[in-house]
Amino acid sequence: MFRSLMETLEAYQRRDPAAHSKLEIFLLYQGVHALLYHRLAHWLYCHNLKFLARAVSQWSRFWTGIEIHPGAKIGRRLVMDHGMGIVIGETAEVGDDCLLYHGVTLGGTGKDQGKRHPTIGNNVLVSCGAKVLGPIKVGDNSRIAANAVVLSEVPEDATAVGIPAQIVRIAGRTTRYADEVDQTSVENPTLERLEALSSRLEFIEKLLDERYEIIREQGERETV
Ligand SMILES: CC(C)(COP(=O)(O)OP(=O)(O)OC[C@H]1O[C@@H](n2cnc3c(N)ncnc32)[C@H](O)[C@@H]1OP(=O)(O)O)[C@@H](O)C(=O)NCCC(=O)NCCS
Repeated sequence: MFRSLMETLEAYQRRDPAAHSKLEIFLLYQGVHALLYHRLAHWLYCHNLKFLARAVSQWSRFWTGIEIHPGAKIGRRLVMDHGMGIVIGETAEVGDDCLLYHGVTLGGTGKDQGKRHPTIGNNVLVSCGAKVLGPIKVGDNSRIAANAVVLSEVPEDATAVGIPAQIVRIAGRTTRYADEVDQTSVENPTLERLEALSSRLEFIEKLLDERYEIIREQGERETV
């Protein structure tokens, strides 16, 4: 428990340049408090003390502005920067080393039964105001842009932006391949073939001219 808390505080120090000390983070950061309350609420939930679990979760929401359902599975070193307005649903899963900003929703679309909320991989950034909805997977090391609404799977190392979110980068490279094509210096195979034929024709004409000249000189010599 203590080790888990210490590594969470270190994660905050790494992620938030404004954080000064572990003590400051422990005492003043709502994200840390919400996570500690959630660990307790999840333990109660898993031991079938659902009402108590929910009571702890609601208490935490009141004090921190972060609502994590007791059933949600949260990995290690989660950082919830600013935190206010984060909502994490009952069947949501969050991997290790994730960073969530304020206003993030890991919610349901209202169309699914059972597993209704997303599964977020490891080392995922979910930017402020982003909504990830439905029982979809977000791959490891992905980035969800501010205010995006993600409704379908996000592969690993991808950046998803917009509403509904589109994948615009995978491992830092653009996915709009048409934009990458250099349309001004594209090779034209027909033109290349015509140019080759034209230079061959010039060569044959030159050869014929030379032959003609030789024959003409021979004819002149014979007449003399
Ligand atoms: C998505 C984000 C993490 C950048 O990820 P990235 O993989 O480095 O992506 P890029 O910056 O290269 O942007 C990729 C494309 O998405 C666009 N884009 C980036 N963020 C966007 C957003 N929130 N909404 C719409 N489009 C966005 C970029 O303009 C770029 O477009 P282009 O391909 O036409 O050039 C970043 O833009 C972001 O949203 N950060 C918010 C962090 C946050 O919540 N901060 C709050 C601190 S309080």
